[in-house]
Amino acid sequence: MDYLPIFLEVAGKRVIVDGGTTVAARRIERALNAGAHVEVFDPDPGPEVTAFIGNASLTHHARVPTETDFVDCLVAYGASEEPERDALLHSAAKAAGALVNVADEKSYCDFITPSIVEREPITIAISTGGAAPVIARILRARMEAMLPAAYGRLATFLATFRGRIYEAVPNGRNRRRFWENLIEGPVGDAFLGGEEGLAEERLIAELEGGADKDLKRGEVWLVGAGPGDPDLLTFKALRMMQHADVVLYDRLVGDGIIDLVRRDAERIYVGKKSGDHTLSQHEITKLMIERAQRGERVLRLKGGDPFIFGRGGEELEDVAAHGIPVEVVPGITAAAGCGAAAGIPLTHRDHAQSCVFITAHGAGGVLDHDWTRYARKGQTVVVYMGLNALGEVAQKALGQGVDTDMPVAVIDNGTRLTQRVITGTLTDIEARVKEAALPGPALIVIGHVVTLYGELGVKGSIDTDNFAMRLSAGVTL
Ligand SMILES: C[S@@+](CC[C@H](N)C(=O)[O-])C[C@H]1O[C@@H](n2cnc3c(N)ncnc32)[C@H](O)[C@@H]1O
Repeated sequence: MDYLPIFLEVAGKRVIVDGGTTVAARRIERALNAGAHVEVFDPDPGPEVTAFIGNASLTHHARVPTETDFVDCLVAYGASEEPERDALLHSAAKAAGALVNVADEKSYCDFITPSIVEREPITIAISTGGAAPVIARILRARMEAMLPAAYGRLATFLATFRGRIYEAVPNGRNRRRFWENLIEGPVGDAFLGGEEGLAEERLIAELEGGADKDLKRGEVWLVGAGPGDPDLLTFKALRMMQHADVVLYDRLVGDGIIDLVRRDAERIYVGKKSGDHTLSQHEITKLMIERAQRGERVLRLKGGDPFIFGRGGEELEDVAAHGIPVEVVPGITAAAGCGAAAGIPLTHRDHAQSCVFITAHGAGGVLDHDWTRYARKGQTVVVYMGLNALGEVAQKALGQGVDTDMPVAVIDNGTRLTQRVITGTLTDIEARVKEAALPGPALIVIGHVVTLYGELGVKGSIDTDNFAMRLSAGVTL
């Protein structure tokens, strides 16, 4: 982050705008809305600035400013579009100790002006740190469309109950939960649905009925984070990530996803890869139980789906045995995510009428599968945790009589910007993958559906380690 985001109090303070341009008019408007006393300097302002003249909080000077004008000025905006005048404004305003912003002249800026979404009294400020203001504007437009106008009124309405809520729910963490339940529960629903009287009745009933009775209980949420692309999270997963007190997350959960966790939530990395366990499975479960018993909402965030090769079942057995309430949120499992991102359908009327998910590894190492049961005509087999055992898998399958031409794809870092797909047959796939030096995680897809790779026009499916191609494929950054 290159800039410190703050909201500055300017009510009753002097703000100078130098210029009569459209940009000047936008600056004037914002400063007036924030309660500033605005002084505009311009000998011949354009119509948009002239429209403000007559406002009780604005003084117009039909000249350019001089050094003495900046005394006691908190913020000075340069918006004249005249380089010499901007330079004078900058030096005079700096000498007077004001914060300066000159439009389109980064070297004259102490701060930048963000894009704003207003839902009085809520203000959302968006900035790209000057890198790409158009993105900020696009995001702003999306948020405008997403946020009901009544959110602002909801904030004003709830503010009138602040003191009573503070008394009714003295504990800070419980109070946050109480607010969340209000806003996202029946009170918020009624208010946003236009039934303000009902919202008030419900809120009073909550306060009078022992507001913090259910708030002290801890819970465990087992949540699937999908295969890596943050856009593949479910709405429910995202909501829970915003409400958790502590998040225990795995190695396969991508950075872009962890960034979406509530800022104040504690984040604990409990990642595991073969031979390198930050915490043992027993320690992870113990930690979840201890935290939930303290009354915390514990979110266990796992790559893919928690119940598909995720050991979710084992973790929950112990938690449930301690009487702790548990909720499970499914995620897109790697097979589904990688198949879609690579353009390889896992079933297809002409190629595969069934699909099985198996793991190459068990507790004791590489599993001794009967490959003739899995890798056969009309079926797709997706092998999890098989990258390091690829040679052994291929040799065993061939040794058991599986067709030497059986098509195989290895999808590495599926759905991520770094996705790569290597295809071949059971006979040559090991050598091809060795040459590509894939870092993992990777899935092995065995079956005739692999022949459709690159044939279906799925965006981003071909040689997707090419960053530009991923961008054109519509991957969200
Ligand atoms: C312990 S399993 C977890 C599976 C997860 N619960 C799921 O539903 O996807 C880890 C294996 O999932 C596969 N995997 C997970 N994410 C992947 C990705 N983005 N690309 C390819 N394979 C992935 C790999 O085979 C990896 O070894």
